[in-house]
Amino acid sequence: MDRIDLIFENNKKWIEEKLSLNKDYFKELATSQQPEFLYIGCSDSRVTAEDLMGVQPGEVFVHRNIANLVNNVDLNVMTVLNYAVRHLKVNHVIVCGHYNCGGVKAAMQPKDLGILNPWLRGIRDVYRTHKDELNLIEDENARFNRLVELNVQEQCVNLIKTAAVQEAYIERKISVHGWVFDIYSGKLIDLKINFPDILKNIMEIYKLY
Ligand code: CO
Repeated sequence: MDRIDLIFENNKKWIEEKLSLNKDYFKELATSQQPEFLYIGCSDSRVTAEDLMGVQPGEVFVHRNIANLVNNVDLNVMTVLNYAVRHLKVNHVIVCGHYNCGGVKAAMQPKDLGILNPWLRGIRDVYRTHKDELNLIEDENARFNRLVELNVQEQCVNLIKTAAVQEAYIERKISVHGWVFDIYSGKLIDLKINFPDILKNIMEIYKLY
């Protein structure tokens, strides 16, 4: 069977499976959505939000781009964030990176990647911010892994710089989480980012409320 035909076959099976458990499944699904989480992750085909979190349709609002960046002039991520936080009222915003991320790896190479350059610049800036720590790591793979983690951390900080998150923090103590998906084991790792420590010297600059 053609790969595309196979997808439509899979879809039929999926509908049957859902309806066999609950005949009103799609009727209920169509009514509304009240996701508790906004997940911002990498577009990498191996890192699918719902599968790795074990959640069902309706439970997580998702945005994915190359290397899970929260760029403040990217209308796409900013629109998703504002809609999820201000309208859907999610209580948790997650940035999930992953080890062996091609985007992060590309940003560690001295190479012209055309249209990818301005996007990957965000990761080069993360490297510059944490250059002292990263350059002390001799093992290249360990340095790569650490940049993946620091990139998640910086994207979480970028979230906290936005009006939507600051307002929702005052309103309902919304929380931001930095995670890494360990693609070698399947494990989801909470980086347990110490936000008060990181933010104490910079919030005077980014505070909007
Ligand atoms: Co990636």
